[in-house]
Amino acid sequence: MTDTPRKILVTSALPYANGPIHIGHLVEYIQTDIWVRFQKLRGHECRYVCADDAHGTPIMLRAQAEGIAPETLIERVGREHRADFADFLIDFDHYHSTHSPENRALVETVYRRNRDAGHITTRVIKQLYDPVKGMFLPDRFIKGECPRCGAPDQYGDACEACGATYSPTDLRNPVSAISGATPIEKESLHYFFKLSDFHEFLYNWINSKTRFVIKDHDFATEKELLVARAQERVQPEIRNKLNEWFAEGLKEWDISRDPPYFGFRIPDTEEEKYFYVWMDAPVGYMASFRALCEREGLDFDAWWGPQAETELYHFIGKDIIYFHALFWPAMLEGAGFRKPTAIFAHGFLTVDGKKMSKSRGTFIKARTWLDHLPPEPLRYYFAAKLGPGIDDIDLNLEDFVQRVNSDLVGKVVNIASRCAGFIHKRFEDRLADRLPEPGLYDTFVKAGEEIARLYEAREFGHAMREIMALADAANQYIDEQKPWVRVKDPDQAPTVQGICTQGLNLFRVLMAYLKPVLPAMAERVEAFLRCDPLTWINIAEPLLSHTIARFEPLMTRIDPDRVEAVVAASREDLAAETGPAEPATGPLAEEPVAPEIGIDDFSKVDLRIARILEADYVEGADRLLRLKLDLGGETRQVFAGIRSAYAPEDLVGRLTVMVANLRPRKMRFGVSEGMVLAAGPGGKDLFLLSPDTGAEPGMRVK
Ligand code: 2FM
Ligand code: ZN
Repeated sequence: MTDTPRKILVTSALPYANGPIHIGHLVEYIQTDIWVRFQKLRGHECRYVCADDAHGTPIMLRAQAEGIAPETLIERVGREHRADFADFLIDFDHYHSTHSPENRALVETVYRRNRDAGHITTRVIKQLYDPVKGMFLPDRFIKGECPRCGAPDQYGDACEACGATYSPTDLRNPVSAISGATPIEKESLHYFFKLSDFHEFLYNWINSKTRFVIKDHDFATEKELLVARAQERVQPEIRNKLNEWFAEGLKEWDISRDPPYFGFRIPDTEEEKYFYVWMDAPVGYMASFRALCEREGLDFDAWWGPQAETELYHFIGKDIIYFHALFWPAMLEGAGFRKPTAIFAHGFLTVDGKKMSKSRGTFIKARTWLDHLPPEPLRYYFAAKLGPGIDDIDLNLEDFVQRVNSDLVGKVVNIASRCAGFIHKRFEDRLADRLPEPGLYDTFVKAGEEIARLYEAREFGHAMREIMALADAANQYIDEQKPWVRVKDPDQAPTVQGICTQGLNLFRVLMAYLKPVLPAMAERVEAFLRCDPLTWINIAEPLLSHTIARFEPLMTRIDPDRVEAVVAASREDLAAETGPAEPATGPLAEEPVAPEIGIDDFSKVDLRIARILEADYVEGADRLLRLKLDLGGETRQVFAGIRSAYAPEDLVGRLTVMVANLRPRKMRFGVSEGMVLAAGPGGKDLFLLSPDTGAEPGMRVK
């Protein structure tokens, strides 16, 4: 049975355009991509759009630190994001940017309609302002002592030591994390979205269900059926949280920012004001879809108009539920657009049971993973761990290797490799004209309905277990039939051909079920079986009297050393960085002094004068320069994270100080044989240590 086509629009949260995609992000994109691919395989019209979230203070400051325009930064990061997604087989129908004409037009519409309906108000507020940098400071860019417990070095919104939340103006001895200056209080006019106007609407919306009637088609009886479905707006855990927020009362939301800000100007204002990034970010979902409509001639209003009958789902992390389940539907309601059908939140990723950590090497960028391992094993592992709830999921690296090797290679691929050899050697690649066990084949096909139900409900882990149970049954069938024994008896040739035909057909059904998770492997299987692209529907008929291709390895075992290499490379990624990107670090003087060390610790560090003989850019490394250093008779290659502050031509011929006894580190670009010393908060403000003239290469620094 399959449904007549539904029209479904799906989104994943928009990643910020100031940093790389990492495996934590990938949980969401892989989850969404699997769901979308599943819907498409069921024959539905499903569209998956996303975009880079390109505005806001961190992006503006990051571009400044790199000495480039924000447009240049978001362009470059956008390119990297697209490549990472493509290589993880995330198949967007369209990928856009919030810094786009479509988004500007749509956010202006959303704003003006809400304003004209009376949902926007203005008020002068007092905020902390950095007098050196000349800008208002977002909470995360202010540090100081917690007003409750006095813990030093806390952000402007919450204390990590005692959990208190407060306003940045409450911090004791605040400093700007950007310039190190003491902020002053300053007033300015802000624009607010009156969320409480939507209290009743939101309460009813969250606590309601979407009801659909879907036409289904039963292939067995050739009858059309009408099936009613109910879809909750949010998961039960989320609804409970939202109801707590309703009880606390919905507050006005500040949607404006003062210049300097990288974003869109709020229209029709006297003073220069910008939309806060979170105002135009979700509108980016619509903008990306609008660009898709332009490309494919789709009717935008049929999908976003107030009467739209299409389905709309947002996959998001549980941390951004307030924006998606309160602000977003309210903004849409105020502007006369349709609301989401449902919001699907997921939990965070831990690695080996702990938060991802740069120093442990578990903060793994998508690209670092791809440098050492293929994408599909991770897709499978996440699928095996994902459920419909908001629990965190754990990537246990040892279990990952074991699970992938045992399930995908040991069970699934094994079915094909056990049968393909006989079909090739004994039967000239030809499958038999009938199945010896049609009942077993039917069981596999019928299991597709339950597996489809599980995919639909985002019960991916459960679906993977069902599929692996079928793989076990297929292997058990082959074990019992023992084609390798029968093949010795020429009279049993037709039986062997039948067993292997049965095995390969069971394998084909399993690969159709795994195709949302393993799309590239499914394509290799289609080439091997020389069959039409696998779908839920066309597996009903087995492949018989059919010539297949030579068996090529479809997936190889994962070598644990490759996983070790990912972890080691992730530690090196950290070493190659000059410092945390966000929030920007303050001057060194503001950084806490490291724990005390003894003179013997210090004397282990061999500091030497070095002359820079050569300096070059390093392709693929935005922060690094490759330096060739003369140490007085010996030359060393060092990769230094100083590109934001120096061009190679500024450096050649200069003297500097290097750590000469640092253990060489293998980086992606070559071996780094030491470290040069520089001071400063980072970005352009980084100063290479330069000894007085008279110093000679090789001299020890005392
Ligand atoms: O939290 C984030 O990473 C945001 N960039 C997500 C935005 S999702 C949508 F609302 F745009
Ligand atoms: Zn505190």
